[in-house]
Amino acid sequence: MLRQPGLSRRARWAGGDRVVSQLMAKALAHPKLVSLAAGFTDQQTLPVEPTQKALEILWSDPARSLAALQYGTTIGHGPLRELLLERMLQADGRTAAEMNVSIDQVVVTAGSNVLLFLVADSLLDPDDIVLCGAPSYFVFLGILANLGVRAVGVETDEQGLIPEAVDEELARRAASGELHRVKAIYAVSYFDNPSSVSISVERRAALVELAKRYSGEHRIRIIEDTAYRELRYSGEDVPSIRSFDPEGDTVVAAGSFSKSFSPGIRVGWGVLPPDLVGPVLGQKGNIDFGSPNFNQYLMHTVLAESLYDDHLERIRASYREKIDATLEAAEQFLAPIEGVSWGRPSGGLYVWLRLPENVDTGTDGALFDRAVDEGVLYVPGSHCYPSQSRVLPRNMIRLSFGVPSCQEIRCGVEALGRAIRQVVR
Ligand SMILES: Cc1ncc(COP(=O)(O)O)c(C=O)c1O
Repeated sequence: MLRQPGLSRRARWAGGDRVVSQLMAKALAHPKLVSLAAGFTDQQTLPVEPTQKALEILWSDPARSLAALQYGTTIGHGPLRELLLERMLQADGRTAAEMNVSIDQVVVTAGSNVLLFLVADSLLDPDDIVLCGAPSYFVFLGILANLGVRAVGVETDEQGLIPEAVDEELARRAASGELHRVKAIYAVSYFDNPSSVSISVERRAALVELAKRYSGEHRIRIIEDTAYRELRYSGEDVPSIRSFDPEGDTVVAAGSFSKSFSPGIRVGWGVLPPDLVGPVLGQKGNIDFGSPNFNQYLMHTVLAESLYDDHLERIRASYREKIDATLEAAEQFLAPIEGVSWGRPSGGLYVWLRLPENVDTGTDGALFDRAVDEGVLYVPGSHCYPSQSRVLPRNMIRLSFGVPSCQEIRCGVEALGRAIRQVVR
């Protein structure tokens, strides 16, 4: 008689799609619910016209059309990789020579999540350690769990990961003889998910210095996730963490067009240190031997024909209105409740809310079902903390303003205010 399903350790570590499934089930059971939970992009401003134009241009060239419909290469479409590197260097105000980088280090994947997974899988063994901000992007925490890796939370503030806290954690691991287990530091450098905080320029440099200083038996890499870099609504862009690594041996830079153009096209990429390219391509070759080629040709045409930057301007204007609507509604409906506070992000898709300490925002807590009854869905903040964190607050909420209209955002935040009032003492 069969007693066990015979699953791999990794399948057991992955533990299923629980958070997302729970939230989706709630949304489906309550169709009138305003979802401030899903980190999706705005449906109304998805780039239908730029995509159509790019398709027409691509289709007007028979040779490129045929090539786009054929398998591509494991590393990705060359002309797209060239433009990706060029854009990164331009944004950072650096040259390829200054950054010791070439197109051979640019790998294209079907979304940056795949790149993050491949990098993690290439670097990490079970029981290894990755330092992550507390809080961090919960899907990446899932990747680490999947690999049996310890995600250790490091304190953050309104300027992002605190270098002194990283330093302390690394020193502690060195003292306990575990430094060889620390393989990477994960950082969402622009408008983090969930906190929307960007890492300050001084801290970017400090993080690279720390990673290099503590590298011994092997290198400690910084996995820099720049998924939201281009979703800036005010202020000036700042150079990437990668730009503070001129040797190019420490920082893995991951990028994505999902948030800035289309998650349906799902093109992401990584700029890797040279010694990681082979291992990552080895894994990728076994999994897909090339991400969807058509999508890469399409994104290349979008970039090459200058259809991308106009679209960015358009969505920035739309998200600026939505973030203003969220902050205005929070001011009106949440500010009067004692102990409720939030950050005021200048980019990204999220507002990170702190409730009084006695309020448990989890799906089993008092607030969640009340919020659903009042008509709003949110992501409980506890899902965003690495499993090994010194702090594991239960009173945080991630609100996403990408999908709902300004009017829906207002209704959702008002409903949340009503629910919170019912549970605060
Ligand atoms: C911080 C962060 N990184 C990476 C991703 C993955 O994006 P994709 O795989 O669509 O490129 C997301 C998506 O929500 C994200 O929030």
